[in-house]
Order: sequence, then structure tokens, then C-alpha cells
Amino acid sequence: MKGVILHGGHGTRLRPLTHTGPKQLLPIANKPMSQYCLESIRKTGITDVAIIVGGIGSNRVRDYYKDGQDFGVKITYIEQDLPRGIAHAIRLCKEFVGNDKFLVFLGDNIIQKEITEFAREFENSDASASILLCEVDNPSRFGIADVKDGKIIKIMEKPRNPPTNLAVTGIYFLTPEIFDVIDNLKPSWRNELEITDSLQVLLEKNRKITYHKITDYWKDTGTPEDIIHANGEILDNIKPSFSGTKDDSVSISGNVSIGIGTVIRNGVKVIGPAIIGNNCIIEDNAVIGPNTSIGDNCTISFCDISQSIVMADCTINAERIIRSSIIAFNSKIIKAKNHDEGVFLLGEGTQIII
Ligand code: G1P
Repeated sequence: MKGVILHGGHGTRLRPLTHTGPKQLLPIANKPMSQYCLESIRKTGITDVAIIVGGIGSNRVRDYYKDGQDFGVKITYIEQDLPRGIAHAIRLCKEFVGNDKFLVFLGDNIIQKEITEFAREFENSDASASILLCEVDNPSRFGIADVKDGKIIKIMEKPRNPPTNLAVTGIYFLTPEIFDVIDNLKPSWRNELEITDSLQVLLEKNRKITYHKITDYWKDTGTPEDIIHANGEILDNIKPSFSGTKDDSVSISGNVSIGIGTVIRNGVKVIGPAIIGNNCIIEDNAVIGPNTSIGDNCTISFCDISQSIVMADCTINAERIIRSSIIAFNSKIIKAKNHDEGVFLLGEGTQIII
């Protein structure tokens, strides 16, 4: 079996975070979200993986994953010129896939469940496709499956009147049979070739599509709120570790991971679940956590941060309470000594609620 990760798209709902790079590289618990997909795929035993790239900063994907060796896989990059839909991206993999069955992961889907068993089952089955379904509160935002007597009878994209609340998650087990279907597909109302429409065509041809209902955490990280939520969930399961140094005035409680070269001092409190990357300086009574990720090379003092993501190379030096915030790479929040000091600089599309 082969693996495919979809890593394109514009990530419009995540601007300004996606002005400089793809959303799938945004870190959750200090790791790009698509890396969780790659690790899930690798765990099934698949080592031949294609990453479909496109859109702003797609070169960053190649820079990060390179040839895949560091992640135990061999990566082939395939360019998608425009975001023309999931099925369009999958069609680009025809040559890469050859005659094999394959597993497609949307690079912005975070799932806690191990999928190794599902992969093995699909490998040995005669099904044309297999999907993972998850109950959601807002079914008209997703692809939805109608299921009767343990069988999928219909699959539709973002229905106005959903017949069930069973969302089709962005993890699809497929066979090369899908390519012919996609070749004959019409674009949807949002002008995309939909994977859900392709699966519906398979059903209409009486092909077998199996499913598993998952009850573990699953999130399509479309919005900043989704990302903060996923960050908290992933942090809940991180392995506690301490590779830095601290002085006696520091208090650390709960599930906390602290990286190499990080120095924590002067009355800092770290409340898990939380992760602090490598080579950070956290000092001067700062409070970090819970549900907070701090990337590598950050300097943080005085503030009180929780339910937040601070990406690498940031400086926060201000007596501020920071909640439910995502602070992108290389940002600075600094207390002014007087009102005329420095320029207040806000990137395009930034949201600050103070
Ligand atoms: C896409 C699919 C949808 C699926 C969802 C899962 O939606 O079209 O069927 O339920 O991913 O993440 P989109 O993120 O393009 O709105």
C-alpha cells in the first residue's frame, strides 16, 4: 500500500497565519500538523509516500520533510497548480500509485486513533474504498455518510439537511479504481472535484465501501479555534520530559515537556499540559499553561499564557495575560518604557482583542 498526504490549499480561514506558508505546517504541540499524518501513515508500515503541494510557501514543505529519510519514509512531491479539490489532488497521484491500494490523509486532519488495523483490513478486503466516520455537532460543514443496517447508502458533501451527523473524515483508503471515476467527475457548486462525489459514484456502481466509526478525537483544523483545541488534546497525551535547567524557585506541575537547552528561572510556573521547545529562556514570574505550546528559541518573561500556541523564535516580555492566542513565528510582544517607544506593527488580516 502507498500513502498520500494532501498539503495544498490556501488556508483562507487561518489568515494571517497562512500568508507565508501552508496551514498544514502550523505547529500543534510544537510539530507541524501534517507530521502527525505522516507518522500515522508510517505506523501502518507504509514507507512510500507522496505529498501533494501547492499554494503559498509550498517550498517550505520540501524544506521540512526533504526526501523523508528522517521520518522513515521515501517522499515523492507532486505539484497541484490550483486548489481544484481533494479528488483533483488525488488524481495527480495516478502514476505514483500504480496498481497499489493507497491511503490518503488530508494534511489538516488531526486524529488520535491508530489506523494500522484499518489499513491491514483494507489491504485484505475486496472493498473499493474504506472511510472513517465520526459523529459531529455541525454536520453541514462536512462530507456526510448516510448509513443503514451497517451499510453506507449515500455520501454527500456539506448537505443542507444532513440525514446523519456522521462526518466523513479526511482519511480515505482507496484503490486505483477511483482514478477513472475522477476522470468523469463534474466540479461541485464550489467548483472543486469532490472526493465525496467520487465515493458516491462508486456506491452507484454497486462497489463496496466499508467504514469504521471512530469515537476518539478527530479534528479538521480549519479555524484558529480548531487549532487551539487540537493543541490542548495533543498536549494531554505528550510524554512528560525535562531536558532543560531550572532553579529552585520554579514550579512545574502536570504533564509537561521541556526541551534541550531551555532555561527556566526566577519564580516561573509551568502548568501542564504544556510543551516548551529547545533553547528557550522563561523567566521573571511568567506563568505558562495549561494547554500551551511554546516553540524553540523563545524568550518569555512576566506574562501569563494559557490555552495558546507561541511558535518558534518569539519574544514576549510584558505583564500581560494571554489566553486563546496563536502567536506566529518570530513575533515580539514587548512592554514599552514610554509611549513614544517603537512602532506598533500589525500584519495584514491580524486580529487582536484586548
Ligand atoms: C473536506 C471534505 C469533506 C470532509 C472534510 C474532512 O472538507 O470535502 O468531505 O468531511 O474535508 O476534513 P473541506 O475541508 O474541504 O471543507
